[in-house]
Amino acid sequence: MKGVITAGGLGTRLRPLTYVTNKHLLPVYDKPMIYRPIETLVRAGIDEIMLIVGGPFAGDFIRVLKNGEAFGLKHLEYAYQEGEGGIADALRLARSFADNDNVTVILGDNCTNADISEAVREFRGGAMIFLKEIDDPERFGVATIEGGIVKRIVEKPQVPESNLAVTGVYIYDPTVFDKIDKIKPSPRGELEITDLNNQYLEEGQLRWSMLEGYWSDAGSFETLAEVNAYWARKERR
Ligand code: DAU
Repeated sequence: MKGVITAGGLGTRLRPLTYVTNKHLLPVYDKPMIYRPIETLVRAGIDEIMLIVGGPFAGDFIRVLKNGEAFGLKHLEYAYQEGEGGIADALRLARSFADNDNVTVILGDNCTNADISEAVREFRGGAMIFLKEIDDPERFGVATIEGGIVKRIVEKPQVPESNLAVTGVYIYDPTVFDKIDKIKPSPRGELEITDLNNQYLEEGQLRWSMLEGYWSDAGSFETLAEVNAYWARKERR
């Protein structure tokens, strides 16, 4: 199993903070945000990671993470995404790194204390998504579950059918890259990860699990503040 973290994009929602560095290097209490998804992969036993970076401060990542040895990584590789073509467009850059292996993907602003090591160990193909009950599902991909299976996923629905957010933690088999090639840009001009997951769903190859523990994205001022408060409490304890 290999790990991929998407940390591209311009972080425009967090300006003026992101005029001086990349969003994923802003602090989450005592560490840069990007440490949180890296630590989630490391906890799951993954020691080969590709970090997809982008924007004007992409070089800052190397100054912070170097070769990843401090995390116990065997291999840390970087790829540069031109523009903001979407999460699936970023993931596409990991094709040769994945080298026909399965990949666990985490979005660079997703901060969680969840332990996904069992799901990683027992992954047997297709795709796996992790869901979380939340109060404001309209900000996320939202899953409808019927009879224990995912019926559909809708990206940022105006009227959500459930309160189950699709978190930014996914496991994919090697067919993921051929599936990305089939995705057309959405109305907002991005290759959507939800369109990728819906391809697995149509093939009957999409499994799901609840994500246990704390989870939040940190992509807005409000959520960044909340995530900081959570980690401050956790570390002080
Ligand atoms: O946080 C979970 C949600 O993340 C999911 O529920 C949604 O289905 C999924 O589309 C995504 O929604 P967001 O709109 O919050 O994603 P965002 O554009 O903030 O991108 C998430 C991370 O991926 C971000 O930290 C930067 C990275 N990214 C994003 C884009 C658009 C890239 O590396 N390249 C990109 O082109």
